Formats: sequence, C-alpha cells, structure tokens
Amino acid sequence: MAEPRSNELMEKIVSLCKRRGFIFQSSEIYGGINGFWDYGPLGAELKRNVKEIWWRTMVHNRDDIVGLEATIIMSPEIWKASGHVDTFSDPMCDCLLTKKRFRADQVEPQSGVAYYFACAVQDEHRTEALHNAAVNLDAHKALLEKMPPETRKRYEFLLTEYWDQIANAGFDPNRLPKIDTRHFSVLVKPGPHEEASARKTAMQFYKRDGLEKPLPILEKKEAIENTTGFNPENGAELTPPRPFNLMFKTYVGPVADEENVAYLRPETAQAIFAQFKNVLETSRQKVPFGIAQMGKAFRNEVTPRNFTFRSREFEQMELEFFIKPDEVIEAIKCSVSSVQSESSELKTENLKLETSSAWGWEAWHKYWVEERIKFYEGIGLPRATLEEYWQKPEELAHYARATVDLLFKFPFGAQELEGIAARSDFDLSQHERFSGKPMGVFDDELRAAWGKLPKEKQDDLRRRYYEHRKKYLTKTARPDDTPEQIEKDAKEDADGLAKGNYIPHVIEPSAGVDRLILALICHAYSEDQAPDDKGKPETRVVMRFHPRVAPIKVAVFPLLKNKPDLVAKAKEVRDLLRPHMTVFYDDTGAIGRRYRRQDEAGTPFGVTIDFDTLGEKGAELKDTVTLRDRDTMKQERVKIGDLLPLLLDRVR
Ligand code: GAP
Repeated sequence: MAEPRSNELMEKIVSLCKRRGFIFQSSEIYGGINGFWDYGPLGAELKRNVKEIWWRTMVHNRDDIVGLEATIIMSPEIWKASGHVDTFSDPMCDCLLTKKRFRADQVEPQSGVAYYFACAVQDEHRTEALHNAAVNLDAHKALLEKMPPETRKRYEFLLTEYWDQIANAGFDPNRLPKIDTRHFSVLVKPGPHEEASARKTAMQFYKRDGLEKPLPILEKKEAIENTTGFNPENGAELTPPRPFNLMFKTYVGPVADEENVAYLRPETAQAIFAQFKNVLETSRQKVPFGIAQMGKAFRNEVTPRNFTFRSREFEQMELEFFIKPDEVIEAIKCSVSSVQSESSELKTENLKLETSSAWGWEAWHKYWVEERIKFYEGIGLPRATLEEYWQKPEELAHYARATVDLLFKFPFGAQELEGIAARSDFDLSQHERFSGKPMGVFDDELRAAWGKLPKEKQDDLRRRYYEHRKKYLTKTARPDDTPEQIEKDAKEDADGLAKGNYIPHVIEPSAGVDRLILALICHAYSEDQAPDDKGKPETRVVMRFHPRVAPIKVAVFPLLKNKPDLVAKAKEVRDLLRPHMTVFYDDTGAIGRRYRRQDEAGTPFGVTIDFDTLGEKGAELKDTVTLRDRDTMKQERVKIGDLLPLLLDRVR
C-alpha cells in the first residue's frame, strides 16, 4: 500500500515533538541519520508506559502467556530457515538524476509525455560547427571512421538528427566531440514547454556525470499513462526495480568475511520459534499457550518516511500464540468450534470471545484481532480511529491462512499499526528442518482420543493432515528433496497424530512500539481556545493522552515561588505522589503558563498549592489543593489526604 505524504498537521506534530522533547532526530548535531530517531525525556516515558502496559496485558494478566528476552544477533541459520536471507527484500529503484532511492511499489503512478534521449554530445562542438564555414562531408565520414562502433552508432544518429543544422557547417575532423552514450528519459506534463522542460532535465542528467554543455539527442517521445517508471518529484527516469534485502549485516568476531556474517534481527518473532522447545519444557505451559517478546528490530528500509512510521531501527511487541492444528482439535473434541458472531460482517467486535478448548485456528485468530483492538481502546485509541484490513487471498504470504492488518488513521492516511497473522505450522516446521531438532509436541489427550476414533474418522484426519504437510514440504522443497521423500515425510507426520505428536500452529499479533507511539501522539494532538493570563482567548496546544500512557501523570505547582510555606507544602505533595506515579514539580512562571506547558506535555492533572492550602482563608480549606483537569480545564478542590487514591484511580 502506498503511503501518502505528510501534511500540515504532521509538520505541527513533528515540530511539537522536537520542541517538547518527545522525539529528536538521531545524531542531529552531525546532520542526522535518515531513518533513526531518539526519544527525549517525554518520549522515553511515553514509550516505557506503552511497553509496560503491553507486557502487563499480554503476559502478567494471563496464565497462558510467558515472556522471552532473546539476543538481537542470533545464528544466521535462523534467518535462512525463516526465509529472510532469501526473500526479505523490497523492490528498489533509483532516480537516474538525483540518485534518490525509492521503493518501487510506493512510487505514485503518473501520466504525461515521455521524452527518450539516445545520448548527448558536448554542445560546443555543434556551436563551433554552426559558426564555422563550409560543408565537409568527407570530414564527417573521417570522423565516423575514427569512432568505436558503439559511439559511431550514436553519432550517426546525431548526424541524422542534426544534419540540417550542421549541413552548412564544418568542423575539425581531428577533434572528436565528447559524447555520453547513455540513454535517458524524462516524463513531463503535456504543454507548450514540454520539450524545453524535458531537455532541461536531460541536460542536468548528462551534465552531472561529465559533459559541461550537453546537447541531449532526442530519439522519440510518447504519451504514457499510469507509469511508475519516473521520479514523481522531477520526472527523471528510474532504474528498473531490483530486490534489496532489508537485513543489516554485520560480522561476528575479528574477521570480516562471509563465514562470520550475522544479521541484526529484522523481527523479534524468530527467537520465539527458535526457543519454543526450551520455553515449553521449562514453563509448564501446554498448547494452547503463547510466548511474548518485545525489543529492537532493524530493517534497512529503502525509503524511511513519515517521521518515525517507517524507521530503520524500531521496537516490536510480538506474541506467538501456539495452538493445536484443527485436525487435532477434531480428534479430541469431535468438531472444531468457531466463535459466535452477532453479525456476518467481517468485524470482530460482534464476537463472543469466551475462549474454548474446541477452538480452531479461525476462532483464535479472530479472538486475537479483537483482543488487540481492545488493547488499543484501553490506551486511548478508540475503535473508530482503527480499521481492520483483512488481506485478500492473493495478498497472503504463502504460509499464512489469514492476516488482518490493524490500521490507524494517521494524518498521512490509514496505515498498519499491527499485523495479526495465522501462520500455520510454517515457522516451527522450518526450524525443525533447518536445525534437525524436533519442534513437535506430544499431546496425551490426542493419543488417548485417537484410539477411540472410528476408523473412517482417523483416516479422514490423517489424510487431511498428510495433505497439509505435503503442501508445506512441496512448497519449501530443497533441490535434493524428491517427490518420494516428500510423500514419505508427510506420511510420517500424519502417522504421528496417532501417537499424539504434531507441530503446533501459531497466531501472531505483531505490533510496532514506535508506530504506536506515533499513533498516540497524532491522536493526542489537539488545539483549542483557552484564556491567557489576562483572560484573552489564545490557541492552546494540548496533548490529550490517555492518563495510562501520559508521560507525566501529575504536575505540582506552588502558586508562588517566593513563599517558603507554599513551596514546602508543594514539595510535600510532590513527595507524597512520587512513589506512585511520574510527578513534575514546576514553580517557574505565571501559573497559566505553567498549565500550558503541561498541556503540551500531555500531563492529565495539575495540582496547585495556594494560600487556601495553608489555611489562610479559613480552616475548612486548609490542606486542600486545586486539581485541574487538562482536557476540561475544570478545577476541583480536593483534600491532600484524598489526592493519592483519587489520582491512582484516574491514571490506572
Ligand atoms: N513478525 C512479523 C512481522 O515482523 P511486520 O508486519 O513486518 O511483521 C510488524 O512487522 C510490525 O512491526 C508492523 O505492524 C509495524 O508496527 C512494525 N514495523 C515494521 N516495520 C517497521 C519499520 N520500518 N518502522 C517502524 N515500525 C515497523
């Protein structure tokens, strides 16, 4: 899906992120490094909160998911087994003029008139020639004789093209004109100046690599529709797309040769598959269960863009939820149950999601789609800001049975926040084949149930499992895998069912931390009108983060900085709250300004300690503070003693 360009709102958001310390360009003092971003004080807190909530939701609050923290650099064999070494690439093309790199599938289709130039010659020759005296056809011929065949072909073309112009001119046959024999084309908008504009771009192209005064030689021109072969920014020709592997390579150990190549992981998921058996054996989990991991991932993206949306270094939060294959469920439960839906529409919000041991992969898949949407709702992204995109069969990866992309409506368009894929038993099977270590599980219940099944049912399940395994083995066959061997292996796998053995299937909800942070920032950004210190309305920028993710939960303000009693009381309040939440203490500037600063930081609550707190206006207000709500700007009077439980209730 092409990602639309940023707009004005995005510019405001990017500027706020820098101004307030959410996100900075990495290595900014050295001019930055494209596709890398740093999180400033507020961004770091926001990120920690999001990751902490994900971990709590996915791991701590459930009995059926455990965590993993694996290394970033792993055996390169992992990436061969996963398919990343061979196929994790994007089609890439370069602008011939500026060398700017594009992802070929993201170039916007355009229409116009394409001008094709055969070559270019140094113009001084023509001008000289035009200013010179007589026709000297022999001189031309002599010149042609001297040229190498390829150049001669081009030059003959040049002569035909410019015959009329040079027919009355003469030039020095001993001086070969400088010629650049490369083809170049350019797409221009139709109109009276189209050729001039095409020539101008072509001249820049030929000039860049040598000719001082290039004269581009036009071969042909034609109208073209919906082409992606030209740079949308300048019309210059793009190179044909070629695959570009996105993994960052490095070397392990002191010798930088092919034997020591390793990769920075492009996803966190593969370590989960590689450690599946260790986790299973040590965690007392049984299928269905999940392994969660979050951490850095690296992709050498061709065109990092849209702020942090597509970065080269980012963080993922991934769950691999292992389930029994449908054939196993059927053997144990007689049939596979699906989730009950109140609507036929392909949306998970109408589903009844009481998990069941009779669920097959489709039910688990829908369950996880809905769980993940609820997660986003819980941190302040309403369902209406999200879209479920169910990939069409032709869009699915060959091993995937279904994939739902959860899109967030970013200012630059609805784009993927998380993918939830039903990946069958592909990953574990691949690691089994590449490592030679068994990745299957033994299931007592299956073995016991199998013996009690009627023969026809056993045959039917065995046949289906066999077909599935054969399909997988055929698709991933290596050169020395014969059809006989594949059939034999598939049969062995199918026979394993009777003994209680199978390779688990997996549902994978895979989210990007940085994209989620960007989504939260975009959704939180708002502008409204609020009175300034003199009561005059002014535009207020306010980050309406859900209190759960807000970087700072509460700001504490003594009304005046130079009143020791106010300051002491404010610090007392700060110290009361600090062990339980992030608190920002601020005593500088007018109180209105201080509120505005916290509005921009997205702090949901502000506590002001004033003279009433000290009891100067009567005993009943003593030890009370004003609690200001960021969104409504309403203030309420609260006893200091009630403050902590009240705030804890609102920020959790
Ligand atoms: N294990 C499956 C997997 O990695 P993916 O769709 O390639 O699937 C999952 O990535 C998520 O990781 C995406 O939905 C996105 O949130 C995040 N992500 C992927 N590439 C990213 C990038 N270049 N920059 C930021 N986030 C990215």
